[in-house]
Amino acid sequence: MVQTASVSVLFVCLGNICRSPQAEGIFRHMTRELGLSDRVLSDSAGTAAYHQGEAPDSRTRATSARRGVPLQHAARPFHVRDFDQFDHILAMDQHNFADLLAQARTAEDRNKVRMLRSLDPHADDPSVPDPYYGGAQGFDHVFDVCWNGCEPLLRELCALHDWPYRPISPK
Ligand code: 4NP
Repeated sequence: MVQTASVSVLFVCLGNICRSPQAEGIFRHMTRELGLSDRVLSDSAGTAAYHQGEAPDSRTRATSARRGVPLQHAARPFHVRDFDQFDHILAMDQHNFADLLAQARTAEDRNKVRMLRSLDPHADDPSVPDPYYGGAQGFDHVFDVCWNGCEPLLRELCALHDWPYRPISPK
C-alpha cells in the first residue's frame, strides 16, 4: 500500500465481515462528506483469517446500503506490520483489543490501540456487539453503535489536524 494520506485508521474485529468493515465504511463516508478523503486512509482487518478474501456479510451489506453507506471490502487478517502502517487502530470488542495488545511490539504500538466504543460518551458498554449469530436488528444496532464511535473519532482527528468539522447525520 502506498501511504499518501496524513492520517490512517484501521478498524479491527474478529472475522472482518461484520463490525469492522461497517465501521470502516461509515468512517470513509464521513471523511468523504467532510472533503477529507485524500487526507484520511481507512481500512479494516480481522484478528482471525476465517473469512479472508470474502465480501462483508450480506446482512451487513444490506443494512449499510439501506442506511446510505454501500460497502466494498475484502476481508483480511490483521498483521503486525499494520502497527507500522496505521496511526490509529480501533478494536470492536475486548477480545479484539486484547489480541491486538498481545501483538504490540512496543509502547508506541500499544498506544495506537483503542476501543472504538470507548470514544462514545453515551455508550453503556465498551464493546460493539458481535451480530454474526443474531437476528437482522443486530445489524442495525451495530450500524448505530459504529456511527456513534466514528463521529467522536472524526471530531478528534479534525481538532488534532485543524480540519473543519461538522456533525454528519445517519440515514
Ligand atoms: P465480525 O463478526 O468479527 O464482526 O466480522 C464475526 C464474523 C464471523 C465469525 C464471528 C464473528 N465467525 O465465527 O465466523
